[in-house]
Amino acid sequence: MSVKVAPSILAADFGNLERDIKMINSSKADWFHLDIMDGLFVPNISFGMPVVESISKVASKPLDIHLMIMEPDRYIEIFSNLGTKILTVHYEACNHLHRSIQKIKDYGMKAGVALNPHSNINLLADAIVDIDLVCLMAVNPGFGGQTFIENTYNKVRELKQLIDDKNNRCLIEIDGGVNDINANELISCGADVLVTGNYIFSAPDPLINIEKLKSLN
Ligand code: DX5
Ligand code: ZN
Repeated sequence: MSVKVAPSILAADFGNLERDIKMINSSKADWFHLDIMDGLFVPNISFGMPVVESISKVASKPLDIHLMIMEPDRYIEIFSNLGTKILTVHYEACNHLHRSIQKIKDYGMKAGVALNPHSNINLLADAIVDIDLVCLMAVNPGFGGQTFIENTYNKVRELKQLIDDKNNRCLIEIDGGVNDINANELISCGADVLVTGNYIFSAPDPLINIEKLKSLN
């Protein structure tokens, strides 16, 4: 299976959002990655439901929504109504992660769990059998354009081992600082999905950079 590429809309031109969404529609990218920030779990606020709704009307590929918000259970139903395919909550933002995962699935979405750079893979040892996707943060969440943390490679290997041990089909997604320098090694460690913002939207030709990632593995 070739690696999935999920452009992070946080790095798009918000003044020309429809143009950028259509550009991704016409590309070889697989999903739209949308970062929702609450200014509390992370020190930044991105965009909310009206923007997601507008994006969903134009986007022709699955919406992969990354909630960087406290108590995300409050918004699971709303994101399901907005056409979300994969809804990811942070391990660090959930008091009852098992309940959050079940609720996401009850609303017909794939359940993702994101782990901050400081959080150990073993924290997911008991939950992994229920999770459809683990989003490994390769930067501290909150901002695009940050530098990739090298220890992420070790974490991908550990997570891949955990998934194999439990005979689970969970996907491994990497988010933050992904580019054509680290993508190869991430894939060889076991990454299935690459989220990438600035590497695509700051490129002279975003379509070429998407193709570069898609041609790996
Ligand atoms: C960071 C976000 C990422 C970010 C990735 O908090 O979760 O999705 O937009 O952007 P780049 O690829 O520029 O690091
Ligand atoms: Zn993200």
